Amino acid sequence: MSKLPLKIGKSLERRKGEGSIRELKFSKDLLDFSSNDYLGFSRSHIIWKKANKILEENLILKNGAGGSRLLTGNHALYSPAEALVENFHKAEAALIFNSGYDANLGFFSAVPGKGDLILYDELIHASIRDGIMLSAAKAVKFRHNDLKDLEKKINRLKNGLLGEVFLVTESIFSMDGDSPDLHALVSLAEESGSFLIVDEAHAVGVKGAGIIAEEGLQDRVFARLVTFGKAMGAHGAAILGAADLKDYLVNFARSLIYSTALPPHSLATIISAYGELQGEGATQVQRLQENIDFFKTQVSKRGFQKHFLESDSAIHCCILPGNERVKAASNTLAENGFDVRPILSPTVLKGAERLRICLHSFNSEVEINGLIEGLKRLL
Ligand SMILES: Cc1ncc(COP(=O)(O)O)c(C=O)c1O
Repeated sequence: MSKLPLKIGKSLERRKGEGSIRELKFSKDLLDFSSNDYLGFSRSHIIWKKANKILEENLILKNGAGGSRLLTGNHALYSPAEALVENFHKAEAALIFNSGYDANLGFFSAVPGKGDLILYDELIHASIRDGIMLSAAKAVKFRHNDLKDLEKKINRLKNGLLGEVFLVTESIFSMDGDSPDLHALVSLAEESGSFLIVDEAHAVGVKGAGIIAEEGLQDRVFARLVTFGKAMGAHGAAILGAADLKDYLVNFARSLIYSTALPPHSLATIISAYGELQGEGATQVQRLQENIDFFKTQVSKRGFQKHFLESDSAIHCCILPGNERVKAASNTLAENGFDVRPILSPTVLKGAERLRICLHSFNSEVEINGLIEGLKRLL
């Protein structure tokens, strides 16, 4: 086996020294307060069985797509899946990518270009950052959820700009669980003639069709990202927008063009999960909301709100500064049966290390109370 280049080896050693080394671990059999499976759909037998039935009924006996969507991989389930996604999220068109990471990479590397300006929230997801890095556009961050800062930057940087301005945010932030004022953001985008893109990965299913559609803002946003790997319990993602945006992406989004398409089983699962969300599964959305309300009430009853970031979503972050401290807290909770993952720097800023608690429809009130009691000892 050949040795690692010196630089790479040093980076690994530095991570170890900082206590932030990442490892691939198997999930233990603990109470789930960490997965993005907010509605329990990834473990739903109903969705699994329905997905298999869809494959059988359509006589699809293929394990893989066999090629990119541009070649032989655009199999028969893509059209009904995209139609379902468009309809549910009230979009003119949906284009399915292999993952949210791929969708953001494909979109941001292809849409904003030379001469354009991207203004992005400083806490935006890594997949958007990576897409932006592949774009020739100038990119500037604005302070998290701070629309005054954004407006100032639009006014300052628009002067003399030859191209377009793109504004980028998330409707629920993945590592914080909070949301921007989307009505104000939409108005700001309209007033400034900018194109607004909203990543709804953590809002889909948790907040129905996503906050943009639930608030009736879908026709005032240029593009949305919805993912199927979180509340939908499946895999893949879609960019929602105008039909000609879809045509453009099919021609220019390299992560779509140069990658093997999703296998038929993934599409069948997506179709099945959307069916469930609009049927029996709607009760899970209600259960999740009840758990979110219960969790928040219990936290504030004990006077713990000051340790938490403000959130109405399924993601609740308890700040425990320091990689070692937050890792130890997560280990203690695991010893007591709770799976809560530590979020370390550099994933979040130094000093903002946290326990990221994900609530689910299937968590019981007894479990939630047990977790909060466990936190009490750590705080
Ligand atoms: C906000 C956000 N966008 C995009 C993604 C990427 O989605 P996927 O897991 O489907 O690649 C994630 C995943 O963590 C995310 O949190």
